[in-house]
Amino acid sequence: MKTVSFPKGFLWGGAIAANQSEGAYLEDGKGLTTVDLMPTGKNRWNIAKGKVDSFKPMEGEFYPSHEAIDFYHRYKEDIALFAEMGFKALRVSISWARIFPNGDDEQPNEAGLRFYDNLFDELLSHGIQPVVTIAHFDVPVHLVEAYGSWRNRKLVHFFETYAKTIFKRYKDKVKYWMTFNEINMLLHLPFVGAGLVFKEGENKLQIQYQAAHHQLVASALAVQACHEIIPDAKIGCMLAAGMTYPYTCNPDDVYKAMEKDRESFFFIDVQSRGKYPGYAMRFFKDNQLSIDMEDGDEDLLKIGTVDYIGFSYYGSRATSTDPEILKQIGSGNVFASVENPYLEKSEWGWPIDAKGFRITANQLYDRYQKPLFVVENGLGAMDKVTPDGEIKDDYRIDYLRKHIAAMGEAIQDGVEILGYTSWGPIDIISASTGEMKKRYGYIYVDKDNEGNGTLNRMKKKSFYWYKEVIASNGENL
Ligand code: BG6
Repeated sequence: MKTVSFPKGFLWGGAIAANQSEGAYLEDGKGLTTVDLMPTGKNRWNIAKGKVDSFKPMEGEFYPSHEAIDFYHRYKEDIALFAEMGFKALRVSISWARIFPNGDDEQPNEAGLRFYDNLFDELLSHGIQPVVTIAHFDVPVHLVEAYGSWRNRKLVHFFETYAKTIFKRYKDKVKYWMTFNEINMLLHLPFVGAGLVFKEGENKLQIQYQAAHHQLVASALAVQACHEIIPDAKIGCMLAAGMTYPYTCNPDDVYKAMEKDRESFFFIDVQSRGKYPGYAMRFFKDNQLSIDMEDGDEDLLKIGTVDYIGFSYYGSRATSTDPEILKQIGSGNVFASVENPYLEKSEWGWPIDAKGFRITANQLYDRYQKPLFVVENGLGAMDKVTPDGEIKDDYRIDYLRKHIAAMGEAIQDGVEILGYTSWGPIDIISASTGEMKKRYGYIYVDKDNEGNGTLNRMKKKSFYWYKEVIASNGENL
């Protein structure tokens, strides 16, 4: 494979999230979060979309976040393996409910704060930079029950308090931050993205965009606070990216593809440029949405613009205006997309498109002219352990090799990229399905979908491959 050179100091590593890895869901004073209410099985999808019947875990259901891969107790062992691969960065998230168990508590929970102190110290002792997401899909359940989560303006204040608390506590340890993971997820899986629960007959779109405004203001306040408290830190936004192709060159298809992309860009346009774009105002008008904004919000958004654009990329999307073509849209994918006949798919039906990664990176850089940070990318696949204990995940190596090469091309195109943290460097719980068997890791975790297994860690073939990629700064793919 053609080799490319990556910049000196490029941040190679991996990315995980608290709710998909830590487990220990009520330990050391942690409160219940939205993800702790999401079982495996068909009910998960309804809940993810905002149809929630109970604010307590229910008998007879299996909740994968409760134990996850027990990173809470095993982080030292896992970080030693990341260090062996040569990681320069590990993206983690802080669980809001470890710091403020109810979300609106007067004082933070010291045991929760201490856990992340220990985690960051461990990373730094191995020369690994922590890259920290403040909110990765987990809202304290009390905030949902008592306030209606992000539909309520009060969440802005609670989030600001939480963000300032962690900036002050970790200011000497964490220099890369992100506000909301995949902020555009709010439009697709509103309970996952923003803890939104809907009642029969409510205008969902209105609630979603009001919640979006609150998150955007909260993000701007966090950016401002981060700049004040940790002047040498960088703080970014985070987009679930993947450009939308028009199915044909019919201008109607092209326009629709642009609109689809704008659905996601809307968030980043505000976070990066500091104001609502014109097309959003028209969208609100056409859909009779009215967003409550307070005096001063416009100024806040202007001041609180991000330093870099974090994004996840798993594959591209495609759309059409032809009703026949639209029939192909599957229901299982988070981002509805028509099938692209030029692309292969993963076992979970996600399109595989390395060239699309290069296009997406170029598109984001052209639009924002700010450094990018690839904070998620990877292939969810089923792995088999051979009788002699090996895991030969050549399919994963193939996916990552092509994507890293495409990223290298984007860099040659002039795109500034700070680093690459592939998703789930150790197998963790799948966010969309709750499964364990949808694995992304270089490190295998012995656990199945039902929660059976020793939780032992094993190196896959890709472990040695990625180690060499990092050692050669991306030259040996
Ligand atoms: C992103 C999320 O949507 O994709 C992660 O930020 C998630 O939390 C990842 O795990 C992969 O999705 P899944 O459903 O395969 O785990």
